[in-house]
Amino acid sequence: MKVRKAIQNDADAIRSVHLAAFPEGERDLISDVAVEMLSEAASPPVLSLVAEVDDIIVGHIAFSPVTSSDTKEHLGYILAPLAVSPSHQKRGIASQLINSGVERLSELGPGVLLVYGDPDFYSRFGFGADRGECYTPPYQLEYAFGWQAMALGDFDFPSSEISISCVSSLCNPALW
Ligand SMILES: CC(C)(COP(=O)(O)OP(=O)(O)OC[C@H]1O[C@@H](n2cnc3c(N)ncnc32)[C@H](O)[C@@H]1OP(=O)(O)O)[C@@H](O)C(=O)NCCC(=O)NCCS
Repeated sequence: MKVRKAIQNDADAIRSVHLAAFPEGERDLISDVAVEMLSEAASPPVLSLVAEVDDIIVGHIAFSPVTSSDTKEHLGYILAPLAVSPSHQKRGIASQLINSGVERLSELGPGVLLVYGDPDFYSRFGFGADRGECYTPPYQLEYAFGWQAMALGDFDFPSSEISISCVSSLCNPALW
């Protein structure tokens, strides 16, 4: 299994992974987000990674930058979306995508990494809901318990709550 940066030509394969992995009702919305992340004009740029087995893309993850909505200061990244093809799940592929992303982003400097997802899954990578409370998401959350954060590198969490802004692909209340 190989993890590499995604390129625009991977768009169809990335869409297929998300369409296969997510349930009906979520799959169209999330696969669109996954593909849009490839062309986000963000600074710093979005990090999209794919996992390949025998040169076939079986997993995808994106990390997009987040800023303070007040000061516009770069704060770190948010992990979204993530999917592994059903035929390749439970082999550690998502774990490798997350760990590879965390390693690459940590090399860019300290910051926060946010995620909105299942705490049973994400807690094993160091995400915590207590640290998520330092950041106000841009939309009302349907499942507030899923809002979590971890440190990238040597990072101190803020003492007062900061409202965040995300890249345009994530600016859809239906995703939150
Ligand atoms: C969630 C998902 C990405 C995990 O991919 P994967 O490659 O199977 O994950 P890994 O093999 O690295 O799994 C790591 C561990 O997490 C566990 N796990 C997977 N999903 C979990 C969940 N929702 N809750 C708790 N544990 C979970 C696995 O059983 C595995 O446990 P183990 O190490 O004890 O065997 C994959 O199931 C998927 O694409 N699901 C549909 C899309 C989705 O839910 N994406 C995440 C949205 S936030």
